[in-house]
Amino acid sequence: MTGQPIPVIIDCDTGVDDALALLFAVRHPGLDLRAVTCVAGNTDVDGVVRNTLTVLEQAGAPDLPVARGAARPLIEEARSARHVHGHDGMGDLGLPAPTRTPVDLDAVSLLRREILASPRPVTLIPTAPLTNIALLLRSHPEVVGNIERIMWMGGAVACGNASSVAEFNVWHDPEAAAILLTAGVPITMYGLDVFTQVVVAGDVVRRLRADAEPGARLAGELLAHRPSAPDPDGDDPAGGLGDAGAVCAVADPGGITTRRLPVEVSLAPGPGRGQTLVDRRPRIGEAELHGDTGRTTLLDVALEVDVPRYVELYLGAVAPGLR
Ligand code: BDR
Ligand code: CA
Repeated sequence: MTGQPIPVIIDCDTGVDDALALLFAVRHPGLDLRAVTCVAGNTDVDGVVRNTLTVLEQAGAPDLPVARGAARPLIEEARSARHVHGHDGMGDLGLPAPTRTPVDLDAVSLLRREILASPRPVTLIPTAPLTNIALLLRSHPEVVGNIERIMWMGGAVACGNASSVAEFNVWHDPEAAAILLTAGVPITMYGLDVFTQVVVAGDVVRRLRADAEPGARLAGELLAHRPSAPDPDGDDPAGGLGDAGAVCAVADPGGITTRRLPVEVSLAPGPGRGQTLVDRRPRIGEAELHGDTGRTTLLDVALEVDVPRYVELYLGAVAPGLR
C-alpha cells in the first residue's frame, strides 16, 4: 500500500453482507472509514442502526459517527429482506446489543458534514437502497465537489434478484437510484454480475468460525449465513462476500474489469420496474437516430472480477491470523 488511506463513507442497510463490508472497511489499512449512514432496506432503519453499531463494536472500530437515515423509500413503502438476512436483519446470530449510540444528527446531515469536512475528496460506498443518497444530492448538491467517486453496489447487467430483472437496492427505491445517476461524479456500478461471484470457500468459512479473534469469527458466522453455493471441495457451504466486494473494489480497483457504458433505471410500473438498463450495443440504434435517448448516464460498469484476489484481500484485512 502506498500513500494516505482513502477517505470513505458507507451508506448501508446492515444486513449480513453490509456487515462483512463494514468489517473490511474498518480493518483495511488503505481505507479511512469516516462515517456510516443507515437506511431502510434489508430490515427497518432502527434495526439497521442497531446492527451497524454492533458490527463496529465487534470489529473494534474507532468511535465513528453513525447516523439514522430514511425509514422508507421516496415513493413506496419499505419492504424488508428478512427472508434473506434473518429476523434481526443480520443473520440472527444472537450478538449482544451495542453499547455505542448513533449521533444526534440525521444521515443526510451527517453525510453533508463529513463529505465537506474531509481534507481529501471522499469515496462514497452505497451498499443499500439509495434513499439517503438521493435526498443528499437533492438537498445539498454542493457535496459533489468533494466526492472522488461513488462505488455503487447496485444494479445488474444480466439478471436481477428482487425481480427477474431488478437488483434489490434499485428495486427497493428505483426513483432514488435514478437520482443517483444524476450525481455528476464518477460512478462505478458494482452490480450483481460481479457481486454474486466473490465467494469464500467452505473450509475457510469453517476456520473463520473457529477463530479466537471476535471480528474474524463474526466474518465466519456472517459468511455461513450467506451460503452461495455448495462447496465443490467439501461439505461446508461457501459464503458470498456480497457488499464487501464493493469495498474491496475501492481498496483495489485493479481487481475488477469495467467498461464505460450508458445506464438508465426503469421507473415504469410493472415487471421491468427497477431494472438497470445497461446499453452494451456496439453501435447506436434507431432510438438514438431519432433523438429518443432517454435518461442514460455513462457509468464504469464492473463486468468481471478477480475472485481469488478479492478473497485474499478480504481475509488479509479481516482475519490476518487465520490458520
Ligand atoms: C443487495 O441487496 C441486499 O440484500 C444486500 O445487502 C445487497 O446490498 C444485493 O442485491
Ligand atoms: Ca446491502
